[in-house]
Amino acid sequence: MSPTILVTGGAGYIGAHACVALIAAGYTPLVLDNLCNSSAESLRRVRRISGVEPRLIVADIRDAQALDALFAAQPVAAVMHFAGLKAVGESTAAPLRYHDNNVGGSVALLQAMQRAGVRTLIFSSSATVYGEPSVAQFREDMRCDPVNPYGRGKWMIEQMLGDLAASEPGWRIAALRYFNPVGAHPSGLIGEDPRGVPDNLMPYITQVAVGRLPALRVFGGDWPTADGSGVRDYIHVMDLAEGHVAALRHLLEHAPQRLTLNLGSGRGTSVLQLLHAFEHVIGRALPHEIVARRPGDIAAYWADPTRAAAVLGWRTQRDLSALCADAWRWQQANPRGYADA
Ligand SMILES: NC(=O)c1ccc[n+]([C@@H]2O[C@H](COP(=O)([O-])OP(=O)(O)OC[C@H]3O[C@@H](n4cnc5c(N)ncnc54)[C@H](O)[C@@H]3O)[C@@H](O)[C@H]2O)c1
Repeated sequence: MSPTILVTGGAGYIGAHACVALIAAGYTPLVLDNLCNSSAESLRRVRRISGVEPRLIVADIRDAQALDALFAAQPVAAVMHFAGLKAVGESTAAPLRYHDNNVGGSVALLQAMQRAGVRTLIFSSSATVYGEPSVAQFREDMRCDPVNPYGRGKWMIEQMLGDLAASEPGWRIAALRYFNPVGAHPSGLIGEDPRGVPDNLMPYITQVAVGRLPALRVFGGDWPTADGSGVRDYIHVMDLAEGHVAALRHLLEHAPQRLTLNLGSGRGTSVLQLLHAFEHVIGRALPHEIVARRPGDIAAYWADPTRAAAVLGWRTQRDLSALCADAWRWQQANPRGYADA
């Protein structure tokens, strides 16, 4: 028997990669997604990679009836909760939309889990919960003080998960704080497919490389870092997906508990270093310009991944060049993302 794992937001970037990792580990992903930022094509691609197409229920996590019907129709061993809106800038312009979807959606999902007696959850949190600490290496026991509505929503959900676990025995919960997920499955069949101009660095670079965008804009060349550009912790999306499977196994095999874990490589890489690593992989230079810093950005941060290594025995495996090569394979094969299908 292959346990069914409900994957909310499973048609999205990280969720589709998690489906591949779940299938490889012997689980059956069942996807619930309203497709507001994704395409069902990603799951057809999962079939081409894994031989299994995850079943898709097109519904919103705020739809209590749809959730009850889903939990009534089959036993669900655990939930991986990826569904959410994720653009920091947009969250500042539309905070209520973000809190309704992300916080309200999580409340609705948790209530449905409670009704169904499903008490194992892996939640997509984010390094944005830390805010702007004075040290660059973020550790889970540091104070969280997020500085935008997106990050505050993630932090609210983390706190809500703590309240829930304290109020009722039996919950197994892991909040995974991602650093900067990049790259794609090495097949080039699934990858990041942002709508409009990408918010994140890697899809921006790959879209410049295929000629969809004229030049990379590097926000700030005067940060107090070695080359003046901002430093982040880039994690290959398959490492991230495997981290979820490790967390799932851990939760299912141990006594009820609540975990908060950073998922990152522990290495800081500057924007220019990532650009140069990518240029090395594709064998040519890309146009880029240094522009003003973006409001709300910080100079440098990366994960302390010690706790995830100690608790899960998980650490990142893929290096910068694998991450660039895989992102490039995906973009080259799908210059316009899933719209090319
Ligand atoms: N990509 C990143 O840089 C990053 C970093 C840290 C945390 N995260 C978190 O990881 C999760 C997945 O991110 P991603 O990059 O795969 O984003 P994504 O937009 O590709 O995937 C999110 C999926 O959730 C779906 N969705 C959104 N709201 C929904 C709702 N109300 N009901 C049902 N489905 C809904 C979308 O259609 C999409 O398929 C998000 O919660 C995000 O906040 C992402």
